Amino acid sequence: YLHGICAMRMRLGARIPGISGRIVGGGDAPRGRWPWQVSIQYNGHHFCGGSLISAQWVVTAAHCFQYSYPQFIYRVILGEYQLFNPSPSRVASSVRQIIIHPNYSSQSADVALVQLTEPVRFTDEIRPICWLGSSDSSPDNDMCWVTGWGTTDSNVSLPSPKTLQEVQVQLIDFKACNTLYNIDPDPQIGRDPVKPNMICAGYAEGKKDSCQGDSGGPLACDHNGTWFLTGVVSWGDGCGKPNRPGVYIRTEAYGEWMWGHMQQHCLSLERT
Ligand SMILES: *[C@@H]1O[C@H](CO)[C@@H](O)[C@H](O)[C@H]1NC(C)=O
Ligand SMILES: *[C@@H]1O[C@H](CO)[C@@H](O)[C@H](O)[C@H]1NC(C)=O
Ligand SMILES: *[C@@H]1O[C@H](CO)[C@@H](O)[C@H](O)[C@H]1NC(C)=O
Repeated sequence: YLHGICAMRMRLGARIPGISGRIVGGGDAPRGRWPWQVSIQYNGHHFCGGSLISAQWVVTAAHCFQYSYPQFIYRVILGEYQLFNPSPSRVASSVRQIIIHPNYSSQSADVALVQLTEPVRFTDEIRPICWLGSSDSSPDNDMCWVTGWGTTDSNVSLPSPKTLQEVQVQLIDFKACNTLYNIDPDPQIGRDPVKPNMICAGYAEGKKDSCQGDSGGPLACDHNGTWFLTGVVSWGDGCGKPNRPGVYIRTEAYGEWMWGHMQQHCLSLERT
């Protein structure tokens, strides 16, 4: 059974135009399809994605903050579509605090919470995604979506006007993912690099993947007709390479930690 936490329930098809189909191997997302996607910026430069999970909280990857700059240098951009062509729905928020998971170390517990200085007002382009506190059910189907403004291949930046990219990827559990990563293992990565609190998404043949600059962004899956944040973009060996699917933090493993920090500040969360 699914134990989800929602600030606002976003039903599939409610506002989301019919699902068709970067990132690597993806395409332009229709405007407004992924209203929880945020861009985390420093000096006007996008460096990581993130997901809005309530009016005042964003979840992202801990490695986005590996240099401990003071939080006032960051801006969280919500309701954005093309980074080089600001949308009327765009809201830029400063950051009250950044909470790195206490067990974060290079490739483990790569998850962080960012509290905005003020709650944002939800609009068609700015809405939170539900997440899992815990669950003993898997998604209705294992096809999920990853979105972001990251590079479209290793070292190939997204061309102007930098339209939000989306790609559909297949969930791969950590054991099956290790089987792939153990094929010609990269000596720097080693064998069995994928831990039980991670999940992979992509394809054995590669080609469709997240890449640099997508880090921290959402892997969104359909659970019983509602969008849930299943993963946070964390790491990979290159982008879109065969036998090297993207590796994501499995948000379910951190759902209670997220809930614990947020419930002190947020009165309107619904547990299901
Ligand atoms: C950190 O890891 C330890 C040891 O595995 C575990 O007991 C603890 O619950 C973890 N902390 C959090 C906040 O998950
Ligand atoms: C990307 O660029 C860096 C620095 O220029 C280089 O070291 C690296 O090999 C490049 N990676 C790929 C996959 O081309
Ligand atoms: C699925 O959604 C329906 C309609 O919203 C609800 O009645 C049902 O309890 C949900 N099932 C699960 C397993 O969450």
